[in-house]
Amino acid sequence: MTTSSAGRPFTHRIAVADDLAALRTVMALAIAELQKGFLSDEQIAASNAVMGLDTQLVADGTYFVIEDGDAIAGCGGWSYRATLYGGDHSKDLRDPATLDPAVDAARIRAMYTHPAFARRGVGRLIMTLCEDAARAAGFRRAEMMATLSGEPLYRACGYTAIERIEAPGPNGVAVPLIRMGKALD
Ligand SMILES: CC(C)(COP(=O)(O)OP(=O)(O)OC[C@H]1O[C@@H](n2cnc3c(N)ncnc32)[C@H](O)[C@@H]1OP(=O)(O)O)[C@@H](O)C(=O)NCCC(=O)NCCS
Repeated sequence: MTTSSAGRPFTHRIAVADDLAALRTVMALAIAELQKGFLSDEQIAASNAVMGLDTQLVADGTYFVIEDGDAIAGCGGWSYRATLYGGDHSKDLRDPATLDPAVDAARIRAMYTHPAFARRGVGRLIMTLCEDAARAAGFRRAEMMATLSGEPLYRACGYTAIERIEAPGPNGVAVPLIRMGKALD
């Protein structure tokens, strides 16, 4: 059961522009803390180049906030646009082209759990919300570019590896990533 610290269920809603500052804080904490054990300190620092907030998801209304009362426990979303990963600052990775649900895979995007809420089912809850929304939009498949920290969650949700890459980061430090996918039907 996915419950908050008070024993009540987490709540969820679509993120709005007023959430952006708080979402940035949660993402920075998740990137710094929850990648430990998966990446070296240098790789974690470099990963900021390919992670973080994509405000297009909020503008599109496809980004979820999970809350425990007033506290943000996590966030994550899906997309009908071609961008597979990266934040507003990852200019080379951005492609706002609209996907075709009949042939393309919906994107699972920007999953972050506040470290205080890690391993409490927040990530799994967001995945269910995203998959349900993508399915309702007609998509029959979902893919993401996973971090090594995200891989166990995605495997637990039925995703399998398609391709492993090394994303170039600053100072010559590469960040290992895995493209993963799953059929939604
Ligand atoms: C990836 C992330 C979002 C997972 O969030 P979470 O809310 O802790 O995940 P959940 O509690 O829903 O985990 C569900 C299942 O995934 C697996 N899992 C999640 N985190 C794991 C970990 N660190 N080690 C092993 N398995 C893990 C487990 O099977 C878990 O079920 P269990 O706790 O009953 O064993 C979080 O670790 C995070 O923010 N990481 C840093 C940012 C990041 O890399 N995001 C992914 C971008 S692609």
